[in-house]
Amino acid sequence: MTSQELKNSFFEYFQSQNHSLISSASLIPENDPTVLFTTAGMHPLVPYLVGEKHPEGQRLVNVQKCVRTGDIDEVGDATHHTFFEMLGNWSLGDYFKEETIKYSWEFLTEVLKLDKEKLAVSIFGGNQDVQEYDHESEKYWLDLGLAQDRIEKIKENWWGPAGQTGPCGPDTEIFYWTGKGPAPKVFHENDKGWVEIWNNVIMQYNKTADGKYEALKQKNIDTGMGFERTLAVLNGFDDNYLTELWQPIIKQLEKLSDKKYKEDKKSFRIVADHIRSAVFMMGDPRGIAPSNKDQGYVLRRLIRRAIRFAKKINIDDGYIASLGALFISGYCMDYPELERNENFIRTELQKEEEKFSKTLTKGLKEFAKQKNIDGKAAFILFSTYGFPLEMTEELAQENNIKINKEEFEAEFKKHQELSRTASAGMFKGGLADDGEMATKYHTTTHLLHQALKDVLGDHVEQRGSNINEQRLRFDFTHPQAMTPEEKKKVEDIVNEQIKFGLEVRYEEMSVAQAKEQGAIGLFDKKYGEKIKVYKIGLFSNEICGGPHVDNTNKLGHFRIKKEQSSSAGIRRIKAVLE
Ligand code: ALA
Repeated sequence: MTSQELKNSFFEYFQSQNHSLISSASLIPENDPTVLFTTAGMHPLVPYLVGEKHPEGQRLVNVQKCVRTGDIDEVGDATHHTFFEMLGNWSLGDYFKEETIKYSWEFLTEVLKLDKEKLAVSIFGGNQDVQEYDHESEKYWLDLGLAQDRIEKIKENWWGPAGQTGPCGPDTEIFYWTGKGPAPKVFHENDKGWVEIWNNVIMQYNKTADGKYEALKQKNIDTGMGFERTLAVLNGFDDNYLTELWQPIIKQLEKLSDKKYKEDKKSFRIVADHIRSAVFMMGDPRGIAPSNKDQGYVLRRLIRRAIRFAKKINIDDGYIASLGALFISGYCMDYPELERNENFIRTELQKEEEKFSKTLTKGLKEFAKQKNIDGKAAFILFSTYGFPLEMTEELAQENNIKINKEEFEAEFKKHQELSRTASAGMFKGGLADDGEMATKYHTTTHLLHQALKDVLGDHVEQRGSNINEQRLRFDFTHPQAMTPEEKKKVEDIVNEQIKFGLEVRYEEMSVAQAKEQGAIGLFDKKYGEKIKVYKIGLFSNEICGGPHVDNTNKLGHFRIKKEQSSSAGIRRIKAVLE
């Protein structure tokens, strides 16, 4: 089965069960201060899991682009990736446990025709915080004919919230036997040979800030099928990189390195994995460039790590952009944004390679001296040679030498500006903040966006937005600093709209209708699905999922605190409501 066939059969099966097909959301979450990337299919759907109405109804199916760099240490094995696609079916307050279990079974055994004898599941084993073991899911699996011995109760079978708070619930995970010979009669998920292919989350709780689990108003189903793992299983592979998705780059790496994949699987996999993630991050509708901050810094580290591992398999400079291009051509049918952004992706890859290759060789010499690396030296590797700390750690381990991390941290603290981002770690978990102030800032962001267009011109486009309870941050295209008069004008316009007490409401429509009505925002939908357009009186008209306040008179007084450069051609505003 090809990758396209697998996606299509998943979509078709769930569409035949009245699910609407929706597009993958952006990899960069909108208005979310707590997380850098979309980490799971549920992430962009959080507003709908907690009660917002979805324009496509209560049953959805999709494939979502995800990035999880938390697993980066595992990348290099056969099944972990930093970027991956997750197939999901969704019930937003519609069907529940019994149906989702039945759908999963039917899809796996009747549509994909996987061998029933090689399937097993785990269910929630119960804990004191929440509830007893999930005997209902157990019953539904047994009713479908699964043997009792193939159902394992696991205390940890719980998914979410992705951050500190938000929707979560017990889950039931589906495994397939990829080991040699028949599957063992009794299932233990940790036994070698079992591969998890699908997770069904019974999303019925909301974890609150004080650690309590309260019942969600709406009971949901959130599922995530590992697209590549399932594809590998269907084709009889125990290694994702053997599938058609990876073979073009693996072959190209073999050619360039004059090595065989099997000689150094780990390096081949890391190069391929990281370049693919980089391509998707830069090719996203909210695409980012390598930088020293936030998502851009994660991207920079992935590209640099890919370059280092490429060198390990004797691939010299100058190939990273063309390797990236292999993914653009491989994936552009499903993700046309990659093709649209091809020039940007290639240029940025090349620039980053040129920048890093110059210092990499010099930096590597530090490790060749085989002495331990003190904090100062580690910091020089970071600040002068551009070595992310984890790369220094990785290299130190490979060379059997020690680095003095404490000294490094101390050195780091002296350089506040750098440390602020880099010490934030590779990855933050979390979900959209839908607190009262954050909702107010969200509505204010729409007002600001339109006011900027009115004052500066129609070239102003949103490049990023980040909201927390204290402030909003908004990045937009504009070639120069705003003058004090321009800032004042923008503030006045926003405050005027607040005073007018404009009604905030949304309409559901197709992308074409939204365009016709002059709505602003990302027109990144692939299928003919309906979207929400939020209207603030007659002032603002913007594609957005919500939530928002219902009237601008709830917002308070708007003030721009700072206007500064964010990167070339991009300005950043920080503003507050007082
Ligand atoms: N949200 C679930 C997961 O990511 C389906 O595994």
